Amino acid sequence: MLVPADLATLPKAEIHVHLEGAVRPATLEEFSAREGVRMSRGFTDLNSFIETYMMTTRVMIRPGDYTRVVREYAEGAARAGVRYAELEMTPALGPRTLESVFLEAAEAASQERDVVLRLVLGLGRMMPAEVMHQAFDATRDVPGLIALGLGGPEQGFPAEPFAEVFAEAKRRGLRSAPHAGENAGPESIREALDALQADRIQHGVRAVEDPALVAELAERRIPLAVCPTSNVRLGVVRSLEEHPLRRLWDAGVSVSVNTDDPGFFDCDLLGEYAIAGRLLDLDRAGYAQLARNSVDGSFAPEEMKGDLRAAIADWENDGAEIEA
Ligand code: ADE
Ligand code: ZN
Repeated sequence: MLVPADLATLPKAEIHVHLEGAVRPATLEEFSAREGVRMSRGFTDLNSFIETYMMTTRVMIRPGDYTRVVREYAEGAARAGVRYAELEMTPALGPRTLESVFLEAAEAASQERDVVLRLVLGLGRMMPAEVMHQAFDATRDVPGLIALGLGGPEQGFPAEPFAEVFAEAKRRGLRSAPHAGENAGPESIREALDALQADRIQHGVRAVEDPALVAELAERRIPLAVCPTSNVRLGVVRSLEEHPLRRLWDAGVSVSVNTDDPGFFDCDLLGEYAIAGRLLDLDRAGYAQLARNSVDGSFAPEEMKGDLRAAIADWENDGAEIEA
């Protein structure tokens, strides 16, 4: 299996990563010791993972915590060649207001020079829609907020109740990027497209169970922000070998690879590219196409997308030796 020696300099976008899930384990340990909270890491599926994940919000509660986490994410991302990233945030409503936490993260994001960072408000499926609408209202003036997300378990928690808040977000110029097709099937993706006017689907891998839906995603150029290691860790697929990435790619769907919650899944973006390289049998042009898909699937302004595509073409044409 061949991985380009200069994979880290391939310009990329990361478009599916949760800030609270990206906290470095050592940093999270420090926060939880400070707050006297014991973090459990024993998850086996999406439901048990969400419980663990939500515990992070009980310890990331002090002013400066989000600044640090944004900075640490940016440091690692820049080293992996990420030039643009969209960070989904799901802060708890605790001692600080949602707006103040978002403003802190936005300020930290704006300080980064090597990577352009934008924010996504991640709504929770398990939460009442009215509460999520209030969360949206509280954050809508945050600079750098570009999209609305929807996470949490799909089974038993339909997207439809959130149709109104997503419609309102669209009216205000935000994009729609819900999770769907992770622990529920194609009907959940269909619901995200119809009820939430999804511009992009986070995961979406279970689209493969419905060939007509796969054809539609390809035809409408609806990007899927896929996270292979996450899918194995949360039991969405049994193994990487059984991952449907190849079937989606071969069907012409715009798939990118991303880390989801790297602080918990022991993965990083270069590793996800290497996994894709193996599953998709990529050569140098293939890796460049995968990076282009990440740019196409992003909500970056057209001018930035153009610059990134040009930088990817330069990397592709550089023709550095591919080595084992
Ligand atoms: N929140 C954080 N990670 C998630 C995932 N993989 N699916 C749904 N919600 C999430
Ligand atoms: Zn996710």
